[in-house]
Amino acid sequence: VRADWRRRPIVLVGLMGSGKTTVGKRLAAKLRWPFVDADAEIEVAAQMPISEIFARFGESHFRDGERRVIGRLMEGGHKIIATGGGAFVDAETRALILNEGTAIWLDAAIETLAARVSKRNHRPLLIGKDPKQVLGELMELRAPCYRQAPIHIISADGPHEETVNAILHALI
Ligand code: S3P
Repeated sequence: VRADWRRRPIVLVGLMGSGKTTVGKRLAAKLRWPFVDADAEIEVAAQMPISEIFARFGESHFRDGERRVIGRLMEGGHKIIATGGGAFVDAETRALILNEGTAIWLDAAIETLAARVSKRNHRPLLIGKDPKQVLGELMELRAPCYRQAPIHIISADGPHEETVNAILHALI
């Protein structure tokens, strides 16, 4: 981790259900940094839910918008950014995050991820599919990208507080 991490955005990456938003909010509260959710920003910019962007325009259109929004969020110094699970897989978005921020891979067992996403199934990549199967396949495809993050945190089944503390420990 770079010595000047306090002046750069911290960007949480990892699969759906890894807790990027929940952990991000708590980390932000602890550091007293602003928190932004990239998916929520994309929905505001597009004025429609992500599921609708996927359905009407397709995934690659979504990735273009995601890249633009994250590019804008990377400016302006310290903040915590929770990204959607595919953001760090896009080569350009990943390069942007690695150059301008501190990337943290929030990782968890497929069972843990599947249990978390099943609680609220609004995710276009999972609709009508077995979450365990899809998450397993995505993990295999995406792990080589996620591994490029300088910090790797395993978020076990326990309280999110432990994950937040593990992140602070890795930073400081
Ligand atoms: C996606 C993850 C979602 C959202 C979109 C695509 C992905 O974000 O960006 O549905 O490709 O993994 P979360 O990781 O916050 O669920």
